[in-house]
Amino acid sequence: MPSNLTVVVLAAGGGTRMKSKTMKVLHEVGGRSMIGHVLNAVKAMEPERVIAVVGTQREQVGPHIQQHLPEAILAVQETQDGTGHAVRVALDSVGTPLHGTVVVVTGDTPLLRGESLRAFAEEHEAAERAVSILSGIVANPHGYGRIVRNREGDVEAIVEEKDATPLEREIGEINSGILAFDAEFLADALGKISNNNANAEYYLTDTVGIARDAGLTVGAHAIDDVSQTEGANDRAQLAALGRELNRRVVTQWMKDGVTVMDPETTWIDADVVLERDVTILPGVQLLGSCVVGEDAVIGPDTTLKDCEIGRGARVIRSHGELAVVGDEATVGPFSYLRPGTNLGSRGKIGAFVETKNAQIGNGSKVPHLSYVGDAEIGEETNIGAGTIFANYDGTNKHRTRIGSRTKTGSNNTFIAPVQVGDDAMTGGGTTVRNDVPDGALAVSSGPQRILEGWAERKRAAAASGEGAEGAGNDGSTTDGAAG
Ligand code: UD1
Ligand code: CA
Repeated sequence: MPSNLTVVVLAAGGGTRMKSKTMKVLHEVGGRSMIGHVLNAVKAMEPERVIAVVGTQREQVGPHIQQHLPEAILAVQETQDGTGHAVRVALDSVGTPLHGTVVVVTGDTPLLRGESLRAFAEEHEAAERAVSILSGIVANPHGYGRIVRNREGDVEAIVEEKDATPLEREIGEINSGILAFDAEFLADALGKISNNNANAEYYLTDTVGIARDAGLTVGAHAIDDVSQTEGANDRAQLAALGRELNRRVVTQWMKDGVTVMDPETTWIDADVVLERDVTILPGVQLLGSCVVGEDAVIGPDTTLKDCEIGRGARVIRSHGELAVVGDEATVGPFSYLRPGTNLGSRGKIGAFVETKNAQIGNGSKVPHLSYVGDAEIGEETNIGAGTIFANYDGTNKHRTRIGSRTKTGSNNTFIAPVQVGDDAMTGGGTTVRNDVPDGALAVSSGPQRILEGWAERKRAAAASGEGAEGAGNDGSTTDGAAG
């Protein structure tokens, strides 16, 4: 790689066509901001320095850039007077004159890859040019600067859409916006450009004509994969780039040994990590920084964000966020794993179960229709169907602890804070308000009563219009038949 490489990232423009309170470059595709993708590609070049030019909404964009690439220098362009002006602001922010190569990229090309930038910079240096243009051949060049070449095929100038003649507008080779410069030439040329054009802006692209006039070499190299240099100006383009990025990510995972049954309905964010022999069924979104272990099967119809799924685990038709699922554990169908869920290996979170801040130990199961919040469950414990961990007293949240090898009955309510020991049991319908010692059984529902013939008498009374009193209603039922 060039030994003295500076990369300038342009991100001061507004992006009004997004019609958004969020700056254009901060809009996300593949779970990462557009500028985040660009900064990743820039970082892969291992440059000497990165200067990001911010302006419009810099209070949003600046911190985002510094979070993503802490070593980046922020240069503030107070008024958006054009790309040439922006690069001048960048160079001025360094203080000392730059040497070597300066590569300029824009902040809104999320498919751009580090290896493409590398190859471009290397080619620029090898050719010893004053300016190199990463160009592209596109079907619809509208809006782009056109690469004007002479009869010999040498680049003469870049002409912007608004300044182009009808003939120049026919040119299909466009300026991607990514350019490489000899640093000393660039500093000199930026002092010479004017804003005498249709936009009244200082065009970075005018440096091409300046180089030609000085008899210096200029070259343009068309990138094979044009979508790497495509930017999103509106939400429709954003969606199109997002779909293309996803297609690439999913294809790469399949090449790396992941089975994806339906790539069309599978969405995998850029930062997700999958081990070999993971299987993804239709309708799955793996978002954020999910990690999925070998042989795990995800889906169908499952959304996981920032989750860690163990080897051989199974997650069926469920939704999870910031949850950890152990090796060989099973989740779903219709489970809702909220942040802080941590299911041990071979554990189970079953149908219609919601969990939050819940530590569920190895081999423990919450199979059916339950809410487990702010809980700690030991190992090899079984929670009965329809159990509620009542963690909220209206003011504060409290924790429930349940030991290992404990079996709780169906339809229990644990009124936190409360603890149930190891090897304990609870009866069906128990409301657990007080701690249950190791090995004990807790029951709280009253003894069952039998009223012989009651139902029959009630039916007969209703038929004769007498009302239910005659049936001897003792008020212990909640049935409304008696009115
Ligand atoms: C620019 C190029 C054009 C190229 C196109 C590729 C110029 C004059 N034209 O046109 O040849 O085909 O990109 O997308 O360079 N920016 C600033 N400060 C400014 C102006 C722009 O930081 O004062 C940033 C923008 O945020 C954006 C980039 O520079 O990231 C390009 O600006 P934009 O206004 O989109 O330029 P185009 O007119 O599209
Ligand atoms: Ca643009």
